[in-house]
Amino acid sequence: MAIPRDFVQDLCGRIDIEDVISSYVDLKRAGRNVKGLCPFHNEKTPSFTVFPDTKSFYCFGCNASGDAISFIMRIENLAYVEAVKLLADRVGMAMPDEGYDDSLAKLRVRILNANRDAARFYYSLLREEKGRPGLEYYRKRRLSDEIITHFGLGYAPDEWQALYNHLRSLGYNDNELLQANLVRKSQKTGRLYDNFRNRVMFPIMDYRGNVIAFSGRRINEEDNPKYVNTADTPVFKKGDGVFALNFAKNSGTKQLILAEGQMDVIAFHEFGFTNAIATLGTALTKEQANLISRYADELLICYDNDEAGRKATARALQILGETGMKLKVVNMEGGKDADEILRTHGKEKVNSLIKGSENEIEYRIGKELERYNVLTDDGKLKFLSAAAQILAECTPMEREIYSQKLANEFNISKDAFDSQIKSVEYQVRKRKREEKARAETRRMTDSFSDENNPERTRNLRAAKAEETLIASLMRNPDFLAKIKDKFTPEDFVTEFNKRVIKELIGLIEGGYSTSVSMFNEGFTSKEINSIVRISRLSEMTANTVRECEDCIAVIKDEKTKNHNDIENMNDEEFLRLFKKK
Ligand code: CTP
Ligand code: MN
Repeated sequence: MAIPRDFVQDLCGRIDIEDVISSYVDLKRAGRNVKGLCPFHNEKTPSFTVFPDTKSFYCFGCNASGDAISFIMRIENLAYVEAVKLLADRVGMAMPDEGYDDSLAKLRVRILNANRDAARFYYSLLREEKGRPGLEYYRKRRLSDEIITHFGLGYAPDEWQALYNHLRSLGYNDNELLQANLVRKSQKTGRLYDNFRNRVMFPIMDYRGNVIAFSGRRINEEDNPKYVNTADTPVFKKGDGVFALNFAKNSGTKQLILAEGQMDVIAFHEFGFTNAIATLGTALTKEQANLISRYADELLICYDNDEAGRKATARALQILGETGMKLKVVNMEGGKDADEILRTHGKEKVNSLIKGSENEIEYRIGKELERYNVLTDDGKLKFLSAAAQILAECTPMEREIYSQKLANEFNISKDAFDSQIKSVEYQVRKRKREEKARAETRRMTDSFSDENNPERTRNLRAAKAEETLIASLMRNPDFLAKIKDKFTPEDFVTEFNKRVIKELIGLIEGGYSTSVSMFNEGFTSKEINSIVRISRLSEMTANTVRECEDCIAVIKDEKTKNHNDIENMNDEEFLRLFKKK
């Protein structure tokens, strides 16, 4: 039985790979990943690694790798469909019946189109008389025309059926508009009316650039609520969206700024901080944290300077701490939020606030401090050895500063504390060295052979370019639209990578997720190993459209070279080529 992509996508959205694997393996956090003893070979030091950001795993010892589904297939010795069933049971999803239809998939596409058309409608109204209140509001908030266009901001008029009538005229039916949550149904009259009225409208895009939802802010401060947001729909779950991630991920830095609201984000972008993002309305969720960590190594938390903001920061730190990203908390003083600070004090003020932010060392030590009761000797001892562990990973300069500080604070001799740090340093160093060596070996072996792609060794330059292109598109599906005209899968030199890129393009064009799990249907679990390996490449590459174009150039170059080679061969050489395979 073929399992529909939509079902697999839903399922993988709901399962937490760490959670699934920890039923079988004792996992411990190591940096941004999670490690444990590999269940697929015998080992004493953990080399089995789970990557929550790409929902995959890899063993540096035996090279086993895959996603949650292939993990279950292997460990439970199940076929694909059975593994999917086991995982579906785990999260309480009923398996799709044999006769599963694709109506949900079709509905999704319709909703995404309706959202895009709605965004256009709201945006174009700003240039009309009817949209004047919206434009005036943006003017009052000092938003420039450029930024309004950049974010596709708009205005929903103060009418009951403006959007409804417009979208009906474009051919959308009532059910589609209701499911998109663009309109609502009156309990009394049964009539449909616009969900957003007399509000300035912020389209929310996913990292692929699809409009998945809207957030509408009131124009009259008497109206309630302050914000109306799209409820859950087949294309949007409230805890999932990250505002402006589609822009921030391409901002050229791996340091992102997390703000509290979309007005703050817009102000950040207006002032040149194009790496700012925000979550929407809800408290930060684990899904959002994982999504963010795919694009950021370091996150600056710039929440509002009030009680609510501080509470939200504490909660966010807890969830973000799990991702292993470097975290800094910026103390946003000088105004109630980033928007106000930027507009009253300017960019330099924010830069200096960011410079003065609490760094990760302080933050981590502070967290250890909360864990122990340092009024007791025992608690003090435990805290100081935890702090020594942290400092053992730091640079000599950092170590000097913080060991002095702690020695003073806790009234102990600095020498004693330093020697404590030294004694754990060896272990920490050794662990780091081992990790590095393993990663290097892996990279080296990677450059030679891949049993799933026998052509790889002979066409290394092409294969690497193909893989970089694939990895980059898996991570940035929005790039496809920009490079689509420049290549076809037929340009690929190696057959395996050609299959992968074909499947990937299908996923992106169908509006699906591009996680490794989505490849299970068309590839064997052995082949999934290679796809995981390829997907991890994006950790080491630039992830820019430019890089994709360079890859395409290399692939095409190699393709013609191969071609020429064949043309110039005599029959004997030509036959030998086939025997080699
Ligand atoms: N929010 C929401 N629903 C509300 C209030 C807030 O969804 N009733 C969300 C919005 O995404 C908002 C964020 O929480 O952007 C932060 O709220 P707040 O600080 O009140 O709004 P600002 O973005 O600062 O808006 P403004 O500057 O216009 O007051
Ligand atoms: Mn604000």
